[in-house]
Amino acid sequence: MLFSYFAREIAGKGASRPMSDFLGDADFELYRKTIYDESGITFSATNRSILESRLKERLREKKIDSLRTYHDLIIKDREEMKTLLDSVTTNLTRFFRNQAHFDAMEKAVAPELLKLRQAERKIRVWSAGCSTGEEPYTIAMLLKEILPPGWGFEVVASDISLKCLMVGKEGFYADSRISGIPEAYLQKYMDKKPGGYQIKDSIRETVRFDYHNLKNDSGLRGLDVVFCRNVLIYFDEAAQKATIERFWEAMAPKSFLFIGHSESLFGMNTRFEFVKTDWATFYRKNS
Ligand SMILES: C[S@@+](CC[C@H](N)C(=O)[O-])C[C@H]1O[C@@H](n2cnc3c(N)ncnc32)[C@H](O)[C@@H]1O
Repeated sequence: MLFSYFAREIAGKGASRPMSDFLGDADFELYRKTIYDESGITFSATNRSILESRLKERLREKKIDSLRTYHDLIIKDREEMKTLLDSVTTNLTRFFRNQAHFDAMEKAVAPELLKLRQAERKIRVWSAGCSTGEEPYTIAMLLKEILPPGWGFEVVASDISLKCLMVGKEGFYADSRISGIPEAYLQKYMDKKPGGYQIKDSIRETVRFDYHNLKNDSGLRGLDVVFCRNVLIYFDEAAQKATIERFWEAMAPKSFLFIGHSESLFGMNTRFEFVKTDWATFYRKNS
């Protein structure tokens, strides 16, 4: 179907170009720049085919036959821009992804915060680029488990993908997606339903899902911990640095930053201090 639709459209323009030429160099540059300016997400020659296939899909759904017409549309229509950005994101995630970070959270970060936040007895965490919610719910279950009585916490979970945020808000995960959750947590914090598990309200109500584009200031301030894992890899260095600077503004003095284990702030000349523990590495805002 898809092939015949585009073959017809392309033929209609008097050309008989193969499908791989759907996104020519000039259009690739145009979309690459627009998407980068809007979100920081960077497309290179190696992932050009992903952009191409997402654009094909959007044009087919909108019944638009030219990339330039569709570009005019996303410039005028913020909702369509959001839909396109959503479609080019990669949302791979899972519960307790990179367990070492949660060990470090429990054994190195939480004990520090218990001393530092003695007056407020509340810990505020941001899961930036939370995808479908597995990361913020992992954080919430862990904090529920380890904080002493009388302490509270709040997890803000944000993403540029509205589809992902809807899944997160609902908090229902198919059986195939719950691997990695310790049995005791499953019993305590999730209810078995046909085909999957539902996050219990006691956890769901500690996580606030919000649309946020990391290209902009979140307005959040005084955060104790920021998780932004496996998001910066999609940005180029300039966008990474700008995002990290915004985290600095959002974070409280003596707070903690976790990035993905394949990501690094090395050579970026940021104010964060690199911390190596027995469990994992992370960054600290020391002032
Ligand atoms: C690979 S997932 C990582 C999810 C989770 N942090 C983890 O490590 O499992 C990357 C997420 O970053 C989000 N993302 C990409 N660019 C973004 C931006 N500019 N603002 C907010 N979220 C963004 C994507 O929508 C996607 O859900």
